[in-house]
Amino acid sequence: MSGRARPARGATGRPAGADDTLAVMEERTFDRSGQHASVIGLGTWQLGADWGDVDDKEALAVLEAAAESGVTFFDTADVYGDGRSEQTIASFLSGRPDLHVLVATKMGRRVDQIPENYVLDNFRAWNDRSRRNLGVDRVDLVQLHCPPTPVYSTDEVFDALDTLVEEERIAAYGVSVETCAEALTAIARPNVASVQIILNPFRMKPLREVLPAAREAGVGIIARVPLASGLLSGKYTKDTVFAENDHRTFNRHGEAFDQGETFSGVDWATGVEAAAEFAALAPEGYTPAQLALRWIVRQPGVTTVIPGARSPEQARANAAAARLPELPDATLTAITDLYDRRIREQVENRW
Ligand SMILES: NC(=O)c1ccc[n+]([C@@H]2O[C@H](COP(=O)([O-])OP(=O)(O)OC[C@H]3O[C@@H](n4cnc5c(N)ncnc54)[C@H](OP(=O)(O)O)[C@@H]3O)[C@@H](O)[C@H]2O)c1
Repeated sequence: MSGRARPARGATGRPAGADDTLAVMEERTFDRSGQHASVIGLGTWQLGADWGDVDDKEALAVLEAAAESGVTFFDTADVYGDGRSEQTIASFLSGRPDLHVLVATKMGRRVDQIPENYVLDNFRAWNDRSRRNLGVDRVDLVQLHCPPTPVYSTDEVFDALDTLVEEERIAAYGVSVETCAEALTAIARPNVASVQIILNPFRMKPLREVLPAAREAGVGIIARVPLASGLLSGKYTKDTVFAENDHRTFNRHGEAFDQGETFSGVDWATGVEAAAEFAALAPEGYTPAQLALRWIVRQPGVTTVIPGARSPEQARANAAAARLPELPDATLTAITDLYDRRIREQVENRW
């Protein structure tokens, strides 16, 4: 298989000889794998499907805008657009050999969600397909994609993932989880490099229950759904309508996959009202979306946060949040107060 060459890293974290027109963003390290990621990365579910239509040209422009803004971490999955997101990333990076982007994909959701499917033979087949889609010999980071809970307690699963590393099919592996309990079980496994979990101003339980343990163990945290599927931008009203093929229409009550993945599991009416309150807390110079991202970046233990973007403008604005000044204490207190009053009760008993 032909492979995308990895440029050597220079002192700034950028590859030696990299294009110096690219913005530089703070990078953090996944301690167990030694890999680096910009504090704000890019989620690319939008480039695959389930968010209305994003055409190929726009998808490439989103990747370009993120990279130009200093993003060095892309999160994707084999199931996003059934491979389209992975293929778009490959197409973009093949034209930009100067870039050093860590690409994390996921596997496991193209089959029935039963523990029996999480075996080495399947892992090899899923990995072959992702390597083809991504145009690489070795995947940087592969994550189990919210597997059934018993998978986290199965020694053979993690032995099989170790085998993929030994076979040089993947450089490192992690998990994407739904619950704090699943995160803690995964963190106890010695070679899990990363845990991807929903963390945002409407989902705070991981701050107490997961991040301290992850830091202690040297496991990287990838914070997903950071804008609560866009709610925290404050731009929706109770009358906002999403496209039919957008999960914010078809998964509001968990009809297609875990309800927590849509609006962070917050019910729409409550979410829109609480988001208006959240938006009013944005200090001068911040948009509400940037307030959410900046709040996540400052949480001890977070390695990278991966907002999804449907346009280059969104990708640029999200990356710019990494360079905004620290948030005032009064804003931080008000965010916690809002969560305690309006959101905590809805989400903490489930995730
Ligand atoms: N199970 C899993 O492992 C899993 C599940 C979910 C997500 N993820 C990953 O996490 C990533 C991020 O989560 P997500 O995409 O679900 O949710 P998100 O990042 O919380 O929300 C994305 C949405 O927020 C809006 N948005 C983004 N940037 C904005 C800006 N600057 N200003 C205003 N609005 C903005 C856009 O909404 P509009 O479309 O309305 O403009 C966009 O579609 C995904 O792309 C994916 O890579 C993984």
